[in-house]
Amino acid sequence: MTALQHVKLGTYYVVHLPEADDFDFWRERARALVQCDVPPDRIAWVEPGGSGDLFAHGERRMPVPPMDAKPVRANRRFVSLARNAILHSDPERFALLYRLLWRLQSNPRMMEDKADLDVRRVEELDKNVRRDSHKMHAFVRFRLVESEDEEVGEHYVAWFEPEHHILRANAGFFMRRFSNMRWSILTPRGSLHWDTQTMSEGPPAERHDAPGGDPMEDLWRTYYASIFNPARLKIGAMLKEMPKKYWKNMPEAALIPDLIAGAQGREAKMVEKGALEFEERPDTLAAIDKAIHGCRKCPIGQLNNHAVMGEGPQNAALMIVGEQPGDQEDQTGRPFVGPAGQLLDAHLEKVGIDRRAAYVTNAVKHFKYVQRGKRRLHQNPGAKEIDTCRWWIESERAIVKPKLVLAMGASAARGMLGKTVSISRVRGAPIPLEDGSELWVTAHPSYLLRLDGPAREEQARLFDADLAAVRARLEELV
Ligand code: URA
Repeated sequence: MTALQHVKLGTYYVVHLPEADDFDFWRERARALVQCDVPPDRIAWVEPGGSGDLFAHGERRMPVPPMDAKPVRANRRFVSLARNAILHSDPERFALLYRLLWRLQSNPRMMEDKADLDVRRVEELDKNVRRDSHKMHAFVRFRLVESEDEEVGEHYVAWFEPEHHILRANAGFFMRRFSNMRWSILTPRGSLHWDTQTMSEGPPAERHDAPGGDPMEDLWRTYYASIFNPARLKIGAMLKEMPKKYWKNMPEAALIPDLIAGAQGREAKMVEKGALEFEERPDTLAAIDKAIHGCRKCPIGQLNNHAVMGEGPQNAALMIVGEQPGDQEDQTGRPFVGPAGQLLDAHLEKVGIDRRAAYVTNAVKHFKYVQRGKRRLHQNPGAKEIDTCRWWIESERAIVKPKLVLAMGASAARGMLGKTVSISRVRGAPIPLEDGSELWVTAHPSYLLRLDGPAREEQARLFDADLAAVRARLEELV
């Protein structure tokens, strides 16, 4: 039977999805249906628990695409929106995605049409899902549960009510962030359990399955009170970001009215002091690593990002300092692995500096960005943010004790010196540091990446010359 005949005979295909968030399954079925020329209005997509019986009379087995079927077109934008939109709780999402995929075959530029209703709808679904994930990252609160079984030890349980099917998609985030904790996240859509080694899934839960209060809550309250910055208090924005709906699950929410009431006085005090207080300086790299992950001393640390610790031998003679992690560094947790890192590696190799022997780090530990659609665009850190983060770079330097520090770019130089210097003025010569080591300043590799033609060649030459001078000086010092 040809596809046309299918339509004429009123053939209906019913696709039962095994999971509400199974993009790969949907994609595989959708591709086959497109290749068999089955139009969108001939398919019913049924998610688990959905009303498949309604269509039972018209159900047909999945058609098999002909051997010479044309490949299915789907551009990157479609795939990335679809992956997220499929997590939405709108039962129409599968049909919407199929309609888009179907239409993409004859109009490959369709995704660029901002006025198209289907495109607008999928963008909206994507946005809602991202917002829901963001809320989950911000508002999941674990509570300690005492286990009778000594072997199990401490177990933390959180209750969360996502609006969409985002639980599985966010498992990795919580696994990375709380990798050493045994935890469960219970939701009405399912549950996740992490035992510090493996992740498992469980059935939907109810509110009373999760504990309601414990000593951890005091810790949260203390923590929240300590990071609460009265100078940044904007009640409207706060309610928008932290809707009251989530307050009941958040121990620190009980503090909010008092904190708001006391905000003016605390702000005045902060201004008076003129400085942020830090706790005792950590004395191992591991302790710094742990501490920076909890650091919320500036607004960058409060974005949806991860701290990135320096890496390299603890006794490295050379410390290389960049500005801040970029998108790829934030995702991988390692400094200088993205495009700027690759360019840096190439230049280091060219002048004979072994990156593996150096301690590579950043002046600012978190990635500062603005979200533009799917992309996170780099933002320069401000002077105050760099100065706040100096605590960490100084702590690293106190442990590694490098003989020579190479600061790349103006932010890195400020992170080392506490003041702004002009790179062109200070590059190429050592600046003595108070502990007897030397600071050398050069341009940031991202600066080279932004240039092309002769300007790039000229800057690359200067960069190589600075690196070569560092290498020569290191040989003298070591
Ligand atoms: N740019 C930096 O300054 N540091 C990194 O780690 C990556 C890019």
